[in-house]
Amino acid sequence: MDQNKRPESMQRITTPELAEAFIAEQVKAVQEQVGDKKVLLALSGGVDSSVVAALLIKAIGKQLVCVHVNHGLMRKGESENVIEVFKNQLDANLIYVDATDRFLDLLAGVSDPESKRKIIGAEFIKVFDEESAKLDGISFLAQGTIYPDILESIKQAEGKKAVKSHHNVGGLPEEMEMQLVEPIKLLFKDEVRVVGEALGLPHAMVYRQPFPGPGLGVRCLGAITRDRLHALREADAILREEFDLNGLAEKVWQYFIAVPDVKSVGVKDESRYEGWPAIIRAVNTKDAMTATIEEIPYPVLHKITARITSEVEGINRVLFDLTPKPTGTIEWE
Ligand code: XMP
Repeated sequence: MDQNKRPESMQRITTPELAEAFIAEQVKAVQEQVGDKKVLLALSGGVDSSVVAALLIKAIGKQLVCVHVNHGLMRKGESENVIEVFKNQLDANLIYVDATDRFLDLLAGVSDPESKRKIIGAEFIKVFDEESAKLDGISFLAQGTIYPDILESIKQAEGKKAVKSHHNVGGLPEEMEMQLVEPIKLLFKDEVRVVGEALGLPHAMVYRQPFPGPGLGVRCLGAITRDRLHALREADAILREEFDLNGLAEKVWQYFIAVPDVKSVGVKDESRYEGWPAIIRAVNTKDAMTATIEEIPYPVLHKITARITSEVEGINRVLFDLTPKPTGTIEWE
């Protein structure tokens, strides 16, 4: 039987009961596969790696070693949340690596989006590799592969052309000689979420909107600078807060701020104030291949604009991107 093919008889996991049964089955399978050996996992804090971490903690406890690499391009509070949930609440064996300076130094002056992606992807593997080399006796590598990833790689193997190189950070260093543990590889995203909730992960983590591997790196448009990245992160946090408060987080598939490397003239405290624009992107889609623009009530947009322009240093305008995909891609880069 092809281990990477979902059997037609496999029931769709839609209820907590079905999730519990799946968890029990996988806990047993992982225990049998791993024995008393150690397993390494790159824990980004995204839905897939978080669910794998929670599942493996249940199966093998401290035999799982999670490594969370903060590449300095995370959203506000995200790495702190990974530490809070996994280290403090689930008592995981978690190694936290703050590699912000390494990434931002390498990215300085690089404006081409694909070069930025390549640098981030390659450096991530390097950092992860270095951390794993410090550990003794790791025999397995766990991955948050899900079924759409398998279907996607089949398509790629068939030679379909990609618009962007969507390599996820968290990719497997090819030369690593470890066996894989991939407990959710036959699940679709909605099933992963049901399993995540059954494992007791916080709702916000399980229903987190998709976040690209290169993170804010492809939203701080052009060559990344620390001050513009900081402004972007703060503006994005305000957007997320207001979407949560106004019930939009559940209605909009992906929403974020992009900040281009352009300044315009504004006025603040009766003086000239040059600043960057914050661009709001809020899209709905089923498969990210096409996307439509969600209507956001004007009062919400006004509030977000007022907050961003008054609370975030360096931003003096807020724009709303009305472009569907196509012609715009979801991300600006
Ligand atoms: P685009 O911009 O191609 O985005 O319309 C479609 C979906 O993919 C995400 N995206 C990425 N995800 N690495 C990722 O892991 C990347 O380099 C990357 N680029 C885009 C994007 O956020 C959207 O959900």
